[in-house]
Amino acid sequence: MRVLGIETSCDETAAAVVTEGGDVLSDVVRSQVALHAPYGGVVPEIAARDHARAVVPVVREALARAGMTAADLDGVAVTSRPGLAGALLVGMQAAKGLAWAAGKPLVGVDHLVGHLLAVFLRRDGAPLLPSPEPRPSFPYVALLASGGHTAIYRVDGPAIGAIRELGATRDDAAGEAFDKVAKLLGLGYPGGPVVDRLAATGDAAAAAEAVPALMARKESLEFSFSGIKSSVARHVARRGRPEGQALHDLCAAFQGAVVDALVQKTVRAARAEGVERVVLGGGVAANRGLRARMAAACERRGLALFVPPFASCTDNGAMIAYAGALRLAAGERDALDLAPETRTALPRVTRKGGGAR
Ligand code: KG4
Ligand code: ZN
Repeated sequence: MRVLGIETSCDETAAAVVTEGGDVLSDVVRSQVALHAPYGGVVPEIAARDHARAVVPVVREALARAGMTAADLDGVAVTSRPGLAGALLVGMQAAKGLAWAAGKPLVGVDHLVGHLLAVFLRRDGAPLLPSPEPRPSFPYVALLASGGHTAIYRVDGPAIGAIRELGATRDDAAGEAFDKVAKLLGLGYPGGPVVDRLAATGDAAAAAEAVPALMARKESLEFSFSGIKSSVARHVARRGRPEGQALHDLCAAFQGAVVDALVQKTVRAARAEGVERVVLGGGVAANRGLRARMAAACERRGLALFVPPFASCTDNGAMIAYAGALRLAAGERDALDLAPETRTALPRVTRKGGGAR
């Protein structure tokens, strides 16, 4: 089965052709980062307009690189939720138009499910086993940390009903915290990569007083990152923007606190669930500090860690095509009146802004 996946939920226009086995036949991602950079974050209206400009050329290129036309497809998958309504609508209209014109089945995909299954994509160009990168088997605990989402899930299978949120952020997503702190420090957008780079040569202990210990309630699997951002803001208001080594130290202290919370709670979740496999996903999974500390923590506790390649962690069409292929293989279809939803279909256990519990 060969499925086209279209993703336009946020600030990447992406399309890919993927098989039911996870082989990536093509993967085209057009980032809007430069358009949003002057505003320090994603502007929904700008995102939707740019998707409208880009979606047809991106889809054409994905088909061309796979050496196919729409007639060769077995189905069209599209991100239908969660995301910016106007942005989702563009990808969905394109997917519906193509599915209708080519007479192919359409399936909507929950973007978070795409991220949680992205670890199964095979990008090495070699469609046959054995693959150099072993994939996990179910069940696994997944940490999904991006600019828009941060949560821990138990994944027992690819269907929505087999995925359970164990805890999420009550306020900012981890990537959002990186972006906001980088903005405060005058480091530009997106903030994650530059903070990561500066933190590598910083001494977290030297800036410890600027960064409070994050919510580390023993049993909780919930995150809260907004306090850390406010505390960095207060520090900058009092002392001015740090420069040179002091800037590196502050980045190291901030990143260390965020990474510690992500690692501690993910490992705690795996142990509480009695699951032996841990999977990372989302743009923040590119963070070198997170990868290193998660690898060390998993090793100490005998957990197997699976970190997908960067192209599978950040937003892409391949994960949507793959999740869609599994839905199609299970005999599922959506009608052409499928509507975008801003929220995930995965049941939430964490309330935004929930107070102490
Ligand atoms: O998954 P993604 O590409 O897009 C969505 O938000 O869905 O994630 C982007 C986020 C941004 O907030 C960016 O700052 C963060 O991932 N990020 C990083 C790193 N690379 C990207 N955060 C920390 N360290 C990094 N190396
Ligand atoms: Zn995403």
